[in-house]
Amino acid sequence: MPVRSPVINVMAAAALKAARGLIRDFGEVEQLQVSIKGPGDFVSAADLKAERTLKAELTRARPGYSLLFEEGGASEGSDKRHRWIVDPLDGTLNFLHGIPHFAISIGLERDDEIVAAVVYEPTRDELYWAEKGAGAYLNDRRLRVSARRQLAEAVIGTGMPRRDRDPALYPAILASVLAATSGVRRFGAAALDLAYVAAGRLDGFWEFGLSPWDIAAGMLLVREAGGYVSDLSGGHKMMTSGDVLAANDHLHLPLAALVREASRAAAG
Ligand code: IPD
Ligand code: CA
Ligand code: CA
Repeated sequence: MPVRSPVINVMAAAALKAARGLIRDFGEVEQLQVSIKGPGDFVSAADLKAERTLKAELTRARPGYSLLFEEGGASEGSDKRHRWIVDPLDGTLNFLHGIPHFAISIGLERDDEIVAAVVYEPTRDELYWAEKGAGAYLNDRRLRVSARRQLAEAVIGTGMPRRDRDPALYPAILASVLAATSGVRRFGAAALDLAYVAAGRLDGFWEFGLSPWDIAAGMLLVREAGGYVSDLSGGHKMMTSGDVLAANDHLHLPLAALVREASRAAAG
C-alpha cells in the first residue's frame, strides 16, 4: 500500500467531500434531463457548490495558500509560494447531459511548479493522485503510461475547440492523427484525459486552449507515471499557452511531429 502524504490526504478528503454533493446533484440532473426546463441553472449551482466545499476544505487545512479556482478566480494568500489550482467540475457539458464522465481536479503548485495532484472521478470512485518524485497512483495501484511504441497501435485522446483561432487547423490535425493511429477519442474532460494517459488507457492526448485548472493536476499524473508533457512547440509553456501534448516517451516525438506538420500544412 503506498503511503499518502499529509497534503495528498488533505486533497483527497476535499475531493471526496465535494464529490458527494456532485453525485447527489448528478442524480438530480438525470431526472431534469428529460424535463422541459432542462438542468442548465441547476448544473451551474452544483458546480459552485462543489467549488465552495473545495475552497473551505483546502483553506481550512492550509490557510495561507494562494488560490486559482475556475469559478472564483485568483486570490493571493499570505503564502505566495503555494497555490491551489482547482477545477471543481471538469466535464461540465457531460454532467449537464447526464453523461457519467466528469471529475474534480486539484493541483498544488510550489514556486511555480506542480508538486501534488488529485483528480477524482466520482462515478467510478477512481482517485488519481501523484506527488512530485513519488509516483502516480490510481487508488492504491501504481500507474505507468502505456508501453506502445507504434503510433499505428495507439489510441489518442483529444479535445475539440469550440471556437478555434484558425478553423482549418484542428480538422487538419485531427485528420492526420486519425490516419496515423488506431483511433482518436473525445471524452470531454481534459483532467481525466490526462489521468487516462497516466493510467495507460490512452497512449497520448493533445488539446489547445485549455486553462491551468484543466491541466495542472493531470500533467503531474502523466509525468509521475513516466510520460512526457509539452506544449505544441515541444516547450513547457502549457500553463500559459493552454496547449498540451502528452504521451509516453516513445510516442511523444512522433505525435508532436504529426501535429506540427499538419499545422504547417494547414497554415499553407
Ligand atoms: C472543459 C473540459 C473539456 C475541454 C474544454 C474544457 P469544463 O472543462 O475539460 O474536455 O475540451 O476545453 O474547458 O468547462 O468542463 O470544466
Ligand atoms: Ca475544465
Ligand atoms: Ca469546470
